[in-house]
Amino acid sequence: MSEVVKAGEKYVSGDHADYGVSYGRFKPDGVDTSHGAILYLDDITVSFDGFKALNKLTLDISVGELRCIIGPNGAGKTTMMDVITGKTKPGSGTVFFGQSIDLSKMNEVQIAHAGIGRKFQRPTVFEQHSVFENLELAMKMDKRVRPSLFFRLNSEQRDKIDEIIRLIRLNGQETRQAGLLSHGQKQWLEIGMLLMQEPELILLDEPVAGMSDAETARTAELLNELRGKHSIMVVEHDMGFVTEIAQQGKVTVLHEGSVLAEGTMQQVQADERVIEVYLGR
Ligand SMILES: Nc1ncnc2c1ncn2[C@@H]1O[C@H](COP(=O)(O)OP(=O)(O)OP(=O)(O)O)[C@@H](O)[C@H]1O
Ligand SMILES: [Mg+2]
Repeated sequence: MSEVVKAGEKYVSGDHADYGVSYGRFKPDGVDTSHGAILYLDDITVSFDGFKALNKLTLDISVGELRCIIGPNGAGKTTMMDVITGKTKPGSGTVFFGQSIDLSKMNEVQIAHAGIGRKFQRPTVFEQHSVFENLELAMKMDKRVRPSLFFRLNSEQRDKIDEIIRLIRLNGQETRQAGLLSHGQKQWLEIGMLLMQEPELILLDEPVAGMSDAETARTAELLNELRGKHSIMVVEHDMGFVTEIAQQGKVTVLHEGSVLAEGTMQQVQADERVIEVYLGR
């Protein structure tokens, strides 16, 4: 098959201990998006003791798309992200990153290095470190950056951090200890840490849960700024937020492990089946 898979196999062979070697990650050249899609889930089934958390789930994400995923509790949204990131292996079906990277053959670390970044619900920033240091650490964890005991940021890297700080609305807070930030600010910092690694695909699971209304509105602005620059999948229950970021893009409704409906927010909101299982409650 393609070079990409070979690179992945080389990685499996144990070289991963050699932190920072340049083939630790094969993005962006490695992801073949020539057919326009960054992610393909096809006929995925995941069973837990016979219960199908995902049931023949098929879904594609286009390059640069901001896709919102909604659906009732237990619909399989988080399980889908677990499959994409290699945390859960599907019982059947295929999951491809671009045309040729078979994610089912890779572990979580390899998938992250291939260019898929995930934010979990609970922020996991380095509380004792400053905002700036958190972003610097995220950059150092990027396998493309050659590690060194005497690692110094060059001006380009410094500019990159400054750019991300502005984007995540933490300018003026660079030296603040991350542990002292509000819940919403920690979430933004974590999004910033993901962005430092320039993922091709970003997965956000309930990014505005626990945020104030003002923080939620700013997060919608932030995601709207990222639109088109990254491919993003967002799972959320906050319909006001989803409406803000979905705009005219596609919203997918999951129910009982499969796609129940897909269309613009307006279309899915008007769908009788969606109203019955989710929105009408
Ligand atoms: N490791 C597991 N073992 C057993 N059952 C699981 C496991 N993970 C998920 N499930 C079950 O699979 C179903 C789908 O769960 P999942 O967390 O994917 O739903 P969700 O759509 O993310 O829901 P929510 O909106 O509440 O976050 C649920 O019934 C859940 O209890
Ligand atoms: Mg969930």
